[in-house]
Amino acid sequence: MSEPLKQRTRTFSLKVLGRTLEHLGVQTYKRRDTAIAELVANCWDAGAKNVWIAVPDESSYDPGTSRITIRDDGCGMAEDEVQDAYLVIGRDRRESGSMTTESRKIMGRKGIGKLAGFGIASRMVVRTWRGGALTEFTLNVEDLKKPDDEVGNVPIAASLGSPPADFGENGTELELRTLKHLTPLDIDGLREALARRFSRTARGEMTILVNDVRIQEPALEMTDRFPEEADSYLEDEIERAGRWTKRAGSVLLRLCEEADSLP
Ligand SMILES: Nc1ncnc2c1ncn2[C@@H]1O[C@H](COP(=O)(O)OP(=O)(O)OP(=O)(O)O)[C@@H](O)[C@H]1O
Ligand SMILES: [Mg+2]
Repeated sequence: MSEPLKQRTRTFSLKVLGRTLEHLGVQTYKRRDTAIAELVANCWDAGAKNVWIAVPDESSYDPGTSRITIRDDGCGMAEDEVQDAYLVIGRDRRESGSMTTESRKIMGRKGIGKLAGFGIASRMVVRTWRGGALTEFTLNVEDLKKPDDEVGNVPIAASLGSPPADFGENGTELELRTLKHLTPLDIDGLREALARRFSRTARGEMTILVNDVRIQEPALEMTDRFPEEADSYLEDEIERAGRWTKRAGSVLLRLCEEADSLP
């Protein structure tokens, strides 16, 4: 067992890049299952083998005090990654690193998925730990309300130290607090939605449990996986194809001109 780290604090800076407010999670993810699925996508990207989701029971649901937690045993984040990757909103992952891990195709790309939590809660407590060092901070939806065209820098107070003994080697836990929905969450419905979105991709690689019950294979084949992501992927591909066609066209034109000018 290594020595416990000395407890200390650090003030991070939350950076809001570009026109992020336009696609803020608050607008995009009002459905609880969609929002939670987006956060589970981050667990997948972190290489998690297990994701434990705890949602409040219907009988004891109280939006003010009930919490939703999502915990994974993925790679977690070191202090500087929290600053450079997590706390930059609108960071394009494709520009800053590999899009596959050993065996997984990375789902994240826009640097906004974490905001999905704000579609359903006003506060997110983030605990992330790697190699025996824990970083903990709270994000409030208010932190993100910056003018549209400004590069916002919002101070975020964090505490750093050792993770509790039962936390495992690496991982991340999100606690969604001050929930927005007045009615309790449909737990079976959540399991089904997560199964539809993840069970095919995650089969044999990542287990998802909701209140300790493992999600099942979906009854129907998936037809509704990430429509928005598929759309923007297609848009990218079409744009790329367009650029290539234009380039190929101009090369052809040059060749024709050259051929014409041959003696
Ligand atoms: N559970 C997690 N474990 C480890 N790192 C995480 C976790 N969640 C987020 N991160 C880090 O924070 C970054 C930002 O996450 P976020 O979901 O906002 O964007 P993204 O996944 O890169 O793209 P997208 O907006 O398409 O989801 C991730 O790229 C990753 O580096
Ligand atoms: Mg993501």
